[in-house]
Amino acid sequence: MKKLFWSFSLLATLLTGCGKQNDMIKVGEFASLTGKEATFGQSSHEGTSLAIEEINTAGGVLGKKLELLTEDTQSKAGEPATVVNKLISRDGVVAVLGEVASSRSLEAAPICQQNKIPMISPSSTNPKVTESGDYIFRVCFIDPFQGTVMANFATKTLKAKKIAVFTDAKSDYSKGLAKFFKDQFTANGGTITAELDYNGGDKDFKAQLTAIKATSPDGVFVPGYYTDVAIICIQAKQLGLNVPFFGGDGWESEKLVEIGKEAVEGTYFSTHYHSDVGSAKSKSFVANYKKRFNGKTPDALSACAYDSAFVLADAIKRAGSTEGLKVRDALAATKGLEAVTGTITINEKRDPVKAAVILKVENGKYKYLETVNP
Ligand code: PHE
Repeated sequence: MKKLFWSFSLLATLLTGCGKQNDMIKVGEFASLTGKEATFGQSSHEGTSLAIEEINTAGGVLGKKLELLTEDTQSKAGEPATVVNKLISRDGVVAVLGEVASSRSLEAAPICQQNKIPMISPSSTNPKVTESGDYIFRVCFIDPFQGTVMANFATKTLKAKKIAVFTDAKSDYSKGLAKFFKDQFTANGGTITAELDYNGGDKDFKAQLTAIKATSPDGVFVPGYYTDVAIICIQAKQLGLNVPFFGGDGWESEKLVEIGKEAVEGTYFSTHYHSDVGSAKSKSFVANYKKRFNGKTPDALSACAYDSAFVLADAIKRAGSTEGLKVRDALAATKGLEAVTGTITINEKRDPVKAAVILKVENGKYKYLETVNP
């Protein structure tokens, strides 16, 4: 009997890969590593990877190492659901980190919620993301704040009275941010001269830009993603629409200046972080990131993703468990966590309240202008 028991347990051990799986805590990540918004996923993945490596070097969590399993959403609708289902059902991850684009986070959130697997978006700012359910968190500010920040910037700094808004009709992020911007800008006494739409991935924006030009705005607010924004700025210049263009965090990519060149000079956008400013925590992050990624300077996406992994590790430690409900409860109780992008306290809506930074494109670089506190 005893002998039989031992051979069974030996067999069981062999079948589960010598117990190796039990020594690792699996964390899923879904990101746009390829496609239209590839730099979002690539920057995020670097931030997440660095955090996981540092956590493991420091001994891991609950005596175990974290194993990061990354899936590519290809910047496409439809992929988030497929890959997050895979991460949960096939791989058995204990939590999911991602996505950047709000529409893609919104697609995956109900799946995490249904499976009671906590999801943390590093940088999706549309309010609806965390409204998807009580297992869905984020570590960045939300767009009612970001829209207000840029509306006040338009009124106070640009001294603009009339603004045109050009929105990506396919993006929840763009539609939300456009609305929050308009609400505050009109509350400031400003006028919206034109509201026009495009579809992310379009190549010709001239018809809408011509219509915008006809309304003689003082500036144009484009709450879009960098690939479209760069082309929009180029075509605006070609049409002689020489007023300031400005937008939100979706502009942040080294590709914006690579594609847009002089057409994006003198534009402005708000985002979550700039490597020139910040705490001691931020400075050591920049140094470690540069060491790890061949001298590359981290952007806001890397910083937010890095923070998302630390927020998760901190919650698993406090939960003393990787069980979904316990990790969820610990995430909801996150308080005063010193992170790279600021201090993170998760509120009752599962969002933190954090500052924004405003950057100006100057000589092909992103120059820090100011920090706006909530
Ligand atoms: N906030 C954007 C969204 O919700 C994503 C984004 C974050 C893009 C940070 C760039 C930088 O879709």
